[in-house]
Amino acid sequence: MNLFDVYPLYDLEIVSGKNCYIYDKQGREYLDLYGGHAVISIGHSHPHYVQSICEQAARIGFYSNSVVNSLQKNFAERLGKISGYEDYSLFLVNSGAEANENALKLASFHNGRRKVVAFRKAFHGRTSATVRVTDNPSIVAPVNQGMEVEFLALDDIPAMQNSLAKGDVCAVIIEGIMGVGGIHIPDPAFLRALRKSCNETKTVLILDEIQSGYGRSGKFFAHQHAGIRPDMITVAKGIANGFPMSGLLISPEFKAVHGMLGTTFGGNHLACAAALAVLDVIEQEKLIDNTARVGEFLIKECQPLAQIKEVRGLGLMIGLEFDKAIKELRKSLLFEHGVFTGVSGSNVIRLLPPLSLSMEQAGLFMEKFRLALKSF
Ligand SMILES: Cc1ncc(COP(=O)(O)O)c(C=O)c1O
Repeated sequence: MNLFDVYPLYDLEIVSGKNCYIYDKQGREYLDLYGGHAVISIGHSHPHYVQSICEQAARIGFYSNSVVNSLQKNFAERLGKISGYEDYSLFLVNSGAEANENALKLASFHNGRRKVVAFRKAFHGRTSATVRVTDNPSIVAPVNQGMEVEFLALDDIPAMQNSLAKGDVCAVIIEGIMGVGGIHIPDPAFLRALRKSCNETKTVLILDEIQSGYGRSGKFFAHQHAGIRPDMITVAKGIANGFPMSGLLISPEFKAVHGMLGTTFGGNHLACAAALAVLDVIEQEKLIDNTARVGEFLIKECQPLAQIKEVRGLGLMIGLEFDKAIKELRKSLLFEHGVFTGVSGSNVIRLLPPLSLSMEQAGLFMEKFRLALKSF
């Protein structure tokens, strides 16, 4: 059987990783400024993470959600404390799209409405509802097209107020920092106006923090830079450092009813062990402070580079926009300089390294980046 060929691949097989480095089959080392698409939070193969998963697998890896799992309760308490959302509830699933899909469902169960407002260039996943609120018609199949969605320009306060004033919008879904769309930070004033309009019209505000959350922006959640509290927050990627897991933080205004949401694998023992180990390391190694500090350094170093049209970002979620395609630059960084980077569209390099990237490693990246830019 062949693999269904939907991914354009680099001719590169990564077989191991250690902290911010990954290694290919030939033993070549790469500095990881991509984090496997913003997934690696505490660094590759952290010893505490490896030990926690191995010990849990040896005890029990999975049992269904029909029995008490105190690892889930423990994780919910720890996540509430570190994120500042102790009064919220947690529902655990397995991927970013699944978290957003459940958030949209819960919002609609809650207020009985069906229309959703999303933003241009947004990406929220590939399942039925999430792909519909993603601003990319090429990945929306006919079967997904039924849901009523209005796309607005990010930061357009009058357009947002106008749309919500009709009182028929179920939910607004917005990324803490737009990732796939090219690293765009919503204006804090816009987020505050959005919070106010949602309150006035009983519209559910969903913050998709799947890429921008878990410390990546230098605060636990990116929306905390604007000082707002959403009704639901979705998390995935960095939550378990690569173990498939995601969650939905739900404000106390939502009433849980047995059977309204459900999952087989969500919140299983192994996933919880991985997620608890991630929180241990984030706390012990003060990775959120590190993210803010190292991110600020990288942004300051990149700003004066003449070839870059615009530098955008917060913490270790950085977009570098060029006025031409950067495909060859990424290739040269990877194969000539041993640096893995991410991309948005054709002209934006995305930096999404592990939150454990050190100042020395950031400095090393800048050296290699300047060299690569010379021949670009
Ligand atoms: C902001 C955002 N939301 C949702 C998703 C979907 O997550 P997953 O691929 O785990 O379903 C992504 C993935 O890149 C994302 O960046």
